[in-house]
Amino acid sequence: MNQRTLFSLFAMSASCVLLTVHVLAHTHQTTTKATNDPPANLADYPDWPYPKGVQEPPKPDDGQLFRIPGSTKSYTDTQINRSTSTVDWFPELHPAPPAAVISGKQGAYNACGQCHLIDGRGKPDTADLQGLPVAYFLQQLADMKDDKRHGSVPRATVNDMIPVAKALDDADAKLAAEYFHSVPAVRSARVVETDTVPVTHPGPHNVQLVDSSGATEPIGLRIIEVPVDVKRTLLRDATSGFIAYVPSGSVKRGELLAKTGDAGKTLPCAFCHGDGLKGKGDLFPPLAGRSATATARQLYDFKSGTRDGRSAAAMKPVVANLTDQDIVDLTAYIASLQP
Ligand code: HEC
Ligand code: HEC
Repeated sequence: MNQRTLFSLFAMSASCVLLTVHVLAHTHQTTTKATNDPPANLADYPDWPYPKGVQEPPKPDDGQLFRIPGSTKSYTDTQINRSTSTVDWFPELHPAPPAAVISGKQGAYNACGQCHLIDGRGKPDTADLQGLPVAYFLQQLADMKDDKRHGSVPRATVNDMIPVAKALDDADAKLAAEYFHSVPAVRSARVVETDTVPVTHPGPHNVQLVDSSGATEPIGLRIIEVPVDVKRTLLRDATSGFIAYVPSGSVKRGELLAKTGDAGKTLPCAFCHGDGLKGKGDLFPPLAGRSATATARQLYDFKSGTRDGRSAAAMKPVVANLTDQDIVDLTAYIASLQP
């Protein structure tokens, strides 16, 4: 089948649905790979999609109150950093979150808001949850519960999410899914094309911090996400966001890959992820405007087979021939889109 026939096939919405069902049903049946197989060669995985931070010892609470311009709230260091409650600097900007999101469940799982932020905007080390379809969201939790979703490398932060998925009961999971679905998605980062980036080092909350030396280095085949305002990000202000430094020319190259599949190298993403990659139906998550780091991590994990949940088979032909360069380009493009 040449590129044009493939395209006209995709263009017909009726066959679109049938083909999707076929791809999902067929590839799922034929999946034989064991999910716990270690990746062939750990050294082959780049570091940047798997950011890790430094653990800071808890500070004695001196009662000092922190504030953020524009917010009427004030919180102490303990309130900001304990895993059983989440600060909410701007409650007027999102619907009221359920208990699981604010405080988790004592002795069972930590607050979703601590890692995904109170409005689900997420960080490069976790996942943007805003606007995800409820069924897709619950399926991911089920896949983690069933040990079908791991990271490709031991340091992968998904290891911190799996125990949460296992401890969460169905009713709380549903409330959390409905809440995050109801929050309108915002772009996780401002994308900046560049040849050089500031030198960074791992900071608290798995955030990568710009080195105070002011030194720069070539970006190479990487995407580097740093907070717009470090202070606000470390105070867990969801409204502040990130800057994503991406290699010069990557957005345009990624657009070609995403829109055409680049002569059969991959499949056009919009076929399943919808117009503007804003998601389609219950099964196909939105991609537009989500973290490039988190998105690249998923592509590597689909490729290694460590993300092997119920619908993951549909992504296997998509990632099979992608190179490191393609993954940088695709995720730079995806991050640049308006959700
Ligand atoms: C300790 C940190 C942490 C906590 C607490 C946490 N998560 Fe996560 N979550 C993560 C990380 C990290 C990922 C990304 C996994 C990956 O890279 O594959 C994730 C991914 C997810 C995903 C998959 C999203 C996608 O696009 O596929 C869902 C759904 C999710 N979390 C829901 C929740 C809910 C609901 C809660 C609260 C009950 C919660 N999380 C609490 C760290 C956390
Ligand atoms: C044949 C249909 C199909 C095509 C084409 C497709 N996808 Fe997907 N994609 C899926 C499905 C289904 C899922 C959900 C998988 C799961 O539940 O594990 C998914 C999930 C993803 C995820 C994970 C999102 C998250 O929330 O963690 C990423 C990233 C992704 N796709 C990127 C792409 C890119 C980039 C392209 C184009 C180069 C593409 N997809 C083309 C079907 C497709």
